[in-house]
Amino acid sequence: MKKIIANWKMNLELLEVQNWIETFNKFSQQEIQNNHWIGICPPALWINKLQDNFRNDANFYIGAQCISMNEVGAYTGEISAKMMKSAGASFALIGHSERRINWDDNNEYLVKQCNQAISEYILVVFCVGETVEIRHSGDHLMFVWNQIYDVLSEVSANNQYELAIAYEPVCSIGSGMVPTQENIEEMFGFIYKQLLINSNFGFQNVSLLYGGSVNLDNANTIANMRNCSGLLIGGASLNPTTFSDLIRSVK
Ligand code: PGA
Repeated sequence: MKKIIANWKMNLELLEVQNWIETFNKFSQQEIQNNHWIGICPPALWINKLQDNFRNDANFYIGAQCISMNEVGAYTGEISAKMMKSAGASFALIGHSERRINWDDNNEYLVKQCNQAISEYILVVFCVGETVEIRHSGDHLMFVWNQIYDVLSEVSANNQYELAIAYEPVCSIGSGMVPTQENIEEMFGFIYKQLLINSNFGFQNVSLLYGGSVNLDNANTIANMRNCSGLLIGGASLNPTTFSDLIRSVK
């Protein structure tokens, strides 16, 4: 079983969402291999719509693309973990590079966002990834591990929570450039080694996902790389037929 997560980002208007749901719901369980864990992160505006209309088979989950670091109150434009949960989100992406770059989501904010998610029993899918400059400097392994450790070691998880980490090299997002198998497996191996060394790390079950230019042609190969537990998919999740074909392609 792999975790396959769609990140729609800021795409799809109301009619398109209705069409997406209708088309995707038509595929039978066998057709979309319902033994995978499938997550959809629509814009927050549509979470409740998916909750009400999306197929209710086991193994389908709705998630948030980000959540507020604050619990409640005068924070114009923000959406809290509690609200996301009550609308139907059971997991949340936290630390996506587009949030880190465009909204300055720094470590202090990310710790708070994770704590908000955990307080609502929302599964955290923590996103990390190096820029091309850092990869060329040769420091990419420690850079990515520090992104993980600096935030998640500060989170109040107390060994009780499951965690997913999505490794997404910044230059691979939306670019069609996927790292080599060797590069992805090296990163996953390094993260697992560090998780073992840092046995005080507060999560009990950690799965590693890859994201960045995953498509119908490469999904199965990447999903079956060593230590890979799943995929985070942007562009290729916007078309429901492509997305269901992609899920089906992953063995
Ligand atoms: P992409 O996006 O699949 O369009 O590269 C992935 C992501 O940003 O999560």
